[in-house]
Amino acid sequence: MKKYIILISGRGSNMEALLNADLPGRCVAVISNRPDAGGLDFARSKGIATAVIDHRVHADRNAFDAALAAEIERHAPDLVLLAGFMRVLGDDFVRRFEGRMLNIHPSLLPAFPGMHTHREALAKGVKLHGCTVHFVTPTLDSGPIVIQAAVPVLGDDTEASLSSRVLVQEHLIYPQAAAWFLQGRLHLADGRVVSRIPQPDSDAMIAPPLTGLP
Ligand code: GAR
Repeated sequence: MKKYIILISGRGSNMEALLNADLPGRCVAVISNRPDAGGLDFARSKGIATAVIDHRVHADRNAFDAALAAEIERHAPDLVLLAGFMRVLGDDFVRRFEGRMLNIHPSLLPAFPGMHTHREALAKGVKLHGCTVHFVTPTLDSGPIVIQAAVPVLGDDTEASLSSRVLVQEHLIYPQAAAWFLQGRLHLADGRVVSRIPQPDSDAMIAPPLTGLP
């Protein structure tokens, strides 16, 4: 059975969704860069090994990346899942795990990379927003896309209401992408996603709601 590791920094709701999804693999560790990450308790309650590699006690990013990589490699995982992991990882680290590391990002990439995606979506007035699972490559939030889910942006949305609508979708698409990878239905080749996964029905396209028309 394939082995996977989840990296978190905080609440860990995506980690919970992954652990509750009965994935075709074994979670061998949950690692956080923050000792106070709420998600660590849930992982422990599931009997999963946890570790903290605290970025604040390392001299620089290279030292942190090296400690994190060593902790990950100790478990020899087939897949590394970034689930609300809020540290930027250096190029050497990313290359070491390239092709076996996925991330969930709370926007329809390539729109809104980085932080505060919901705030930016509201500021730009987009009518569709959402989330993306992608392979991690050295350029932040730019790796090949595996799956996305879209939600409508409503006229009275706040950052909080929009982020919770997106989060519901995150909890669906991340376990789906992880399952595909662990089943061997997904890999990277020459920087592109190669997959044997169901294709969306073109009739199922989401149309933005039309408002303000006579
Ligand atoms: C999630 O919305 C995730 O997409 C986002 O942080 C949140 C973590 O929530 N990740 C990023 O912004 C990564 N750049 P969680 O800890 O409850 O899963």
